Amino acid sequence: MERVTDTLSRPLRDLRISVTDRCNFRCTYCMPKEAFGRGYGFLPRNELLTFEEIARLARVFAAHGVEKIRLTGGEPLLRRDLERLVEMLARIPGLDLTLTTNGSMLAKKAQALREAGLTRVTVSLDSLDDEVFRAMNDADFPVESVLAGIEAAAAAGLSPVKVNMVVRRGANEDSILPMARYFRGTGHILRFIEYMDVGHTNGWRMDDVVPAREVVQVIDRELPLEPVEPNYRGEVARRYRYRDGSGEIGLIASVTQPFCGDCTRARLSADGRLYTCLFAVKGFDLRALLRSGATDEELSAAVGAVWGSRADRYSEIRSSKTAGLPKVEMSYIGG
Ligand SMILES: C[S@@+](CC[C@H](N)C(=O)[O-])C[C@H]1O[C@@H](n2cnc3c(N)ncnc32)[C@H](O)[C@@H]1O
Ligand code: SF4
Repeated sequence: MERVTDTLSRPLRDLRISVTDRCNFRCTYCMPKEAFGRGYGFLPRNELLTFEEIARLARVFAAHGVEKIRLTGGEPLLRRDLERLVEMLARIPGLDLTLTTNGSMLAKKAQALREAGLTRVTVSLDSLDDEVFRAMNDADFPVESVLAGIEAAAAAGLSPVKVNMVVRRGANEDSILPMARYFRGTGHILRFIEYMDVGHTNGWRMDDVVPAREVVQVIDRELPLEPVEPNYRGEVARRYRYRDGSGEIGLIASVTQPFCGDCTRARLSADGRLYTCLFAVKGFDLRALLRSGATDEELSAAVGAVWGSRADRYSEIRSSKTAGLPKVEMSYIGG
């Protein structure tokens, strides 16, 4: 099949699939309790794509050139029997199959996920300080269990494990160095993420963003770093390695150094809408097509048409005006 490109000549290479919009954490930057409280209207079960529907769409995307699929959410490990979906997706040839998780249930699930065919995992962890971490996840969840999840993943062979830390000014800047010291030399790759203006419930302000270059300076003062060439075109993390050979870190500077020009990523929400940007306002309803009896050819044509007309470059045009646009929430679209 002809590889599809968008209006800015970007191919379709990666697909993030959100398998649920629910989460057992209430990270203040993602699902603040005030907005995602008891009365919040999460998607009813029958509106979620079934595993069979997801696998069918995944095959259509793979035929369009997708080489990497990341399962996400919400918290993907809350979706019952996720291993079954992993097993179905692992049958698609040539696919790198990964998962992003808050790690709270990973110790229990790592082995089964690996056996089902998962390649690697990314675990989110914002601090090693229990008090800071509990305040940020706002669900009183301890650091210790996430660390146990990371170790279980590595032991199961889901490595290298990537560890994502969102840095928010005034919340966890003091955790940057302790995290760097802890993960250096473990083989796990620590990545610092700039706090982003996703959704409209987290009250994002530019002042709360700790620029990636500041993170590098803080670490470099104690643990000297040097830049590393990207692994491939479109790699979102800028890589640095410790000069003493004890490993590498990544910086995801989506706010201060946007990478829209190289963005090859599509997102599928838990209810089957296709989004071509994390900051999109509207998605294309693939579930409606699926459930109206569309053939694979029709699904494929729809995906090709949506990608072919893509012109998104939100992070490059971010300004005080765009910050107020009605974007979808990260927990829904999948981070
Ligand atoms: C939405 S979560 C979904 C998967 C899983 N629940 C987790 O936390 O890893 C995916 C990633 O997005 C990050 N994230 C969420 N809100 C963010 C924000 N406002 N800015 C930057 N990263 C954010 C999280 O820290 C996490 O690493
Ligand atoms: S970042 Fe992940 S763990 Fe935290 S609230 Fe969002 S979906 Fe849940």
